[in-house]
Amino acid sequence: MQLPLDTQLSIAELTDNPYPIYKVLRSETPLLKVTSLGRTLVTKFKDIQYIKMHPELFSSDDPNTPMERAFEAKTLMRRDGEDHMRLRTAMMPAMGPARVKKVWAQRVNSIADEFVERLTEGATVDLFSAFAGPFSARCVAMVLGIPKASDDDIQRWSQALIDGAGNFGLKDEPFEKAYVANREINACIDDAQASYKAHDEDSALAVQLNAATPIEKEHIVSNIKIAIGGGINEPRDAILTTLFGLLSNPSQLAEAKNNPALFLRAFEEGIRWVAPIQLSSRRVLEDTEIRGFDVPAGEVVMTVQASANHDEEEFEDGHLFNMFRDNKRHQSFGNGPHFCMGTHLSRKMVGEIALPKLFERFPNMRLAEDQTVKWRGFGFRGPLNLPVVLER
Ligand code: HEM
Repeated sequence: MQLPLDTQLSIAELTDNPYPIYKVLRSETPLLKVTSLGRTLVTKFKDIQYIKMHPELFSSDDPNTPMERAFEAKTLMRRDGEDHMRLRTAMMPAMGPARVKKVWAQRVNSIADEFVERLTEGATVDLFSAFAGPFSARCVAMVLGIPKASDDDIQRWSQALIDGAGNFGLKDEPFEKAYVANREINACIDDAQASYKAHDEDSALAVQLNAATPIEKEHIVSNIKIAIGGGINEPRDAILTTLFGLLSNPSQLAEAKNNPALFLRAFEEGIRWVAPIQLSSRRVLEDTEIRGFDVPAGEVVMTVQASANHDEEEFEDGHLFNMFRDNKRHQSFGNGPHFCMGTHLSRKMVGEIALPKLFERFPNMRLAEDQTVKWRGFGFRGPLNLPVVLER
């Protein structure tokens, strides 16, 4: 069967709210070639899992990805096999579970204390800018080894890199902003490199520079850029999405407040519900068949993990936030060789530290009634604001 083609679906519609579209695709045409994307959307859980687990058939090297231009590099995310593993292994020691537990947990805890202290009791605030954004920026700057980067700069860099990487319409402005961010990040890394040994040997930058056989500097820089682009907006969005899920489901929130260990479960459900990274691209290496559709070599498939996480065959009422659901096997961290390197750090930052701490300090926090929460995003998705009243 030939792949069906859609010439109408626009990136703007997908950015506004892709979930109703994916629901229709899952039931009617789980593979769909979309003209505006120049790629094929894959929307069923099992197909997405299969594609990610078979890198020998589905390469991460998408030659037309806007990511390469945005990051000014072919990053580890767009590499396969040994070539990928060499770059991944170089940074991994800074992000593994042992390092997170031994080194980062305590420091993340202090950063969370500092940001929670700044919140005023009784005030109505937008937790996007008052907490989730700067908290994520500070934690990741520390883990990466670029502590001098300001919270504002690092958030702007992250946004510029991912807007550039998601610029499937190939407009000029996102690439221009990414260009500026690249210049500033390069300067920041050069500056940090000069003193890395003195101030931090645990960080991602130090680990890579101090390795017995370091990888080339250009790859160290592109690894750090991937973690800036992929490691700041995602925990931020995870915090905001999970808070929204909890605050709009008071009985679940009450259980988590009684047993704060449940906030980790809430975090996993939050990112299943609305995946911060909604999709990933893979290039087909050999003519193949998925669900009876012929998928030719050279085709680029977009595996939509956001849709996998709502697949009716895997999740009952997947559109609802339910931290007590039986199946917790979501795809928001991906799977296969490119499985997210920041998984342990994110669980610690969001599920074990930020969420419990916010509710410990403001147990009666609630959504501000007169303001609506707006959502946006196709490649990356989360709330654009989260107005809450900070009540004890
Ligand atoms: C809730 C937070 C996060 C989510 C949902 C998330 C999601 C993802 C996903 C879906 C991928 C795989 C992409 C693919 O298959 O092509 C990925 C890869 C990656 N993530 Fe995360 N991420 C999060 C946080 C972080 C953090 C905090 C860091 C680091 C500071 C990080 C660093 C990376 C890196 C370096 C990769 C590339 C791995 C590779 O290609 O081998 N992520 N992430």
